[in-house]
Amino acid sequence: MNPTLTLNNGVTMPAIGLGVFQSEPAETSQAVRTALETGYRHIDTAAAYGNERQVGEGIAASGVDRSEIFVETKIWVSDYGFDQTLHAFDKATGKLGLEQIDLLILHQPATDRFPATVESYRALEKLLAQGRVRAIGVSNFTPRHLTDLFAATEVVPAVNQVELHPYFAQPELQAFHAEHGILTQAWSPIGGITFYPGWGEERVSVMDDETIAAVAKEHDRSPAQVMLRWHLQQGRSAIPKSTNPERIAQNFAVFDFELSAGELARIDALDRGVRSGPDPDVPRPERFAMVIPEA
Ligand code: A2P
Repeated sequence: MNPTLTLNNGVTMPAIGLGVFQSEPAETSQAVRTALETGYRHIDTAAAYGNERQVGEGIAASGVDRSEIFVETKIWVSDYGFDQTLHAFDKATGKLGLEQIDLLILHQPATDRFPATVESYRALEKLLAQGRVRAIGVSNFTPRHLTDLFAATEVVPAVNQVELHPYFAQPELQAFHAEHGILTQAWSPIGGITFYPGWGEERVSVMDDETIAAVAKEHDRSPAQVMLRWHLQQGRSAIPKSTNPERIAQNFAVFDFELSAGELARIDALDRGVRSGPDPDVPRPERFAMVIPEA
């Protein structure tokens, strides 16, 4: 059984979701459908991934009742600002073919215009009050960004989705989340960013890590399954991406074995404290300017 996590407003969310970052639009609909047929009930997408429409098609084609599925998406930076974000909600629901979104989050802090980030979050608060979204949150926020957000808004984010895998485990950020009732959600949970092609030759793939391989062998499981177990047993949500039906199934076959405290500690010890993805404190003007099309 996919464990259910309870967010700080009482809404529940299946811990493991299907990620679709870098899923080609043409493959996304089938991946979502396969995942739902496999038993997944949580899909994580984003306006910036360019595949919300295909996520909606996959949901519709699966035949699984909408009420059973937890849909999460993200507002891109070019839509920051109060009115812009309200409109971005309409774009997202229009593409997804849904009236309500389960979890709507800001894709990242725009540190070159934090006041607009705050205005966007206020729009999320309004959508929450109107019942158009069931929970709201953020992504790629550091404790500094969260503290600044707390000072300017009312609703504590339910979730902060951040880069988190055994080579970048962010223990201080996780402790900060725990202190404030924010659920930690891992992107790149099986370390995809440490082995995506073209993301830097010098990267060491966590998928090839010897310690993880040894633990995996012990349980007769794959490295990905061990990493997902590590997230689950430490109370995190994780959204592994795959478009491959076997790997989609493999990433969901993680509810029938358990890592020991010693194994979890061995994985914790792999943390290098160095992120593979973008630093959220460094603005990326070109990327931020990407326009999200109308529905
Ligand atoms: P694919 O879509 O071909 O399966 P992350 O979610 O950590 O970013 O990882 C995503 C990457 O890991 C993708 O390249 C995906 O490719 C690959 N992947 C997904 N599941 C597995 C698995 N169980 N074993 C190995 N690679 C996987």
